[in-house]
Order: sequence, then C-alpha cells, then structure tokens
Amino acid sequence: MGNKINTLGVLTSGGDAPGMNAAIRAVVRTALHAGIKVKGILRGYAGLLEEDIMDMDAKSVSDIIQRGGTVLYTARCPEFVHSEIQDRGAEICRKHGIDGLVVIGGDGSFKGAAALAKRGVNTVGVPGTIDLDIACTDYTIGFDTAVNTAMETVDRVRDTSTSHERCSIIEVMGRMAGHIALWCGIANGAEEILTVERYDYDEQRIINSIIEKRNLGKKHYIIINAEGVGDSNGMAKRIEAATGMETRATIIGYAQRGGSPTVMDRVYASTFGTKAVDLLISGASNRVVALNNGQFVDYDIQEALAMKKDLNQYMYDMSIRLSR
Ligand code: ADP
Ligand code: F6P
Repeated sequence: MGNKINTLGVLTSGGDAPGMNAAIRAVVRTALHAGIKVKGILRGYAGLLEEDIMDMDAKSVSDIIQRGGTVLYTARCPEFVHSEIQDRGAEICRKHGIDGLVVIGGDGSFKGAAALAKRGVNTVGVPGTIDLDIACTDYTIGFDTAVNTAMETVDRVRDTSTSHERCSIIEVMGRMAGHIALWCGIANGAEEILTVERYDYDEQRIINSIIEKRNLGKKHYIIINAEGVGDSNGMAKRIEAATGMETRATIIGYAQRGGSPTVMDRVYASTFGTKAVDLLISGASNRVVALNNGQFVDYDIQEALAMKKDLNQYMYDMSIRLSR
C-alpha cells in the first residue's frame, strides 16, 4: 500500500481500442473530483521516456467519450523491457510528481506497470484490447465494438458471396486468440470458425463439407478465420482448386480497431477507469481492474498475468452444432 496520491498520470499503451477515450475521461474526471492533479502521458511508455507529458483538466476530456482510438496516442516501446529503462521511467514519474499511474493496455503494458510499481510508482492497469485475451477479466475495452464491426462486415461480405454462390474466408483480428473469431462466427452463422485454440488444420474436412453442402443446394460457405491461423489467401486458392467453388479471402484488418465505441465499451470502460482511480486513492498499487461474473474486481498484476484463458468451450461446441 502506498501513500496519498497528489498527482496521477494516465497513459495508453499497445494496440488502441474503442473505449479507451471513455476510460481516459473517467480517470481524469474521477481524479479531479477527488482533488488530484492529472497528467496525460502521450504515446505510452515511449512518451514517458521522452517526457511527453501534459496537464489535463476536465475540459481536455470533453467530447471524446464517443470517439474511437485514444487521444493520448499509443505506441509500442520495446526497450521498456530493460531494467535500467524502467528505472528511468520511474525516475521521470517522480520528476513530474506523478505518484499514481493508470496504464490502459494489455498484458504487455501491465508488465511495464508492474515494473514501475516495483520502483515505487503506484500503478493500476486497465484492460484495453480488442482481442479479449486478458485472462483475469471477462471484458476488455474495445472487444464489443470490434466484434460488432467485424459482424457487420461479414454480413456485407455474405450478401455478395451468396449472390455469386461463392465460398468466403473472412479473417478477423485477435493476435493469437480466437475470441473475436468465435463471437463473430456465432453472430454471423458461419459454417466454419478457425482458431489457433481449436483448429486441427484438417483442410480436407472443410473441402469435403463444402462439396457436400453445395450438393445439398447451399449457395454460400462462410469461414471465419482467426488472425493467428492466418494464410486466408492461400487457403482460398487451395479450397477453390479442390472444390471448384469460387473462393475469396477478405482480411478485415484495422477497420475492426477503429470507430465509435458501443454502449458497452463506453460504460464498462468508464467504470474501469473510475475503479482504477478509486484503487489508487485507497492506497493500492500493482493491481489490475477486471470484470468477473458481473462484478468489478481487481487483482495483483503478477497473479493476473499468471492466469490462463481459453475459448468458452460451451460456446465453441454450440457454434459447431448450429453450423452443421
Ligand atoms: P499489449 O499491452 O496490448 O499486450 P504489447 O505486448 O505490445 O501490447 O505491450 C505494450 C508495451 O508494453 C510494449 O511496447 C512495452 O513498452 C511494454 N511491455 C511489454 N512487455 C513488457 C515487459 N516484459 N516488461 C516491461 N514492459 C513491457
Ligand atoms: O492487440 C490488438 C491487435 O489489433 C491485434 O488484434 C493485432 O494482432 C495487433 O494488434 C496488430 O498490431 P499492430 O497495430 O502493431 O499491427
């Protein structure tokens, strides 16, 4: 437990996610409400090392709750893994009077937060990633918006795919995690959902299934492919050659990471941001906020990083039953 917070810093790190602005706004307003000064650190740990730090007031976060991206910008800062660079980061926080820090990002960003906590800067992490790949929490900022964007895109691809009686492979983001693919596949009624966690790379089974379904009169075949599986263009060529069915690959890409956040991302991100400041005010450090079974809770960062997350098996089994 640390001492009373006088000045709080906030940064976003890793991939941006819709809803990060809502979290920043909540951090700033909650802190100001408690009489704490707030400094925004630009471009994550990279901006911290460059001392790209600005004072924030209530007005600096007005008109941002509805915007995608992050007004604080974000970056990857590979050198922050080094101990002497982390020492410098903590030193810069002290120089700017920052005695509490909210880090909005993913697991990598939390490792940086833990390193600063170890060096006496009270830190709390807020899970922000479209990938939903943070084990300690059922919700991460941006997933809901990203999966809605992906779902709408797949609906559009499906219209043209059906009109041309084609097979479509649609690749969604998620790094090595298949949560976006699973949710999107269920929401779009896809014939196949390929994820790193479950795909057995048996392409021949998919080919047989396409031929079988076409013979039964099916006009389209939608395959949602997770980024971690990848190779969508190669797969399309092989499937077309083996089935004779025209096959196209669509890689949705960064469109999934942008756009105005959904109500869930605005409200939950606001709650995460507020809870992070409440924790710092209570003297906590080295914590990460989380949503579990509908409750807003917090964990020790190392404990959270050691947790494992898998796809929801019931949902995965259901997706197979509903698509075949
Ligand atoms: P995410 O936070 O979304 O998981 P990254 O894995 O890219 O994204 O991490 C974001 C940033 O967090 C990195 O660019 C780096 O600055 C910092 N970071 C990542 N891993 C570590 C680590 N082991 N120790 C300290 N900082 C780290
Ligand atoms: O973590 C979010 C994410 O969009 C992943 O889904 C994707 O693998 C990665 O970031 C892409 O990162 P970059 O912006 O560095 O290309």
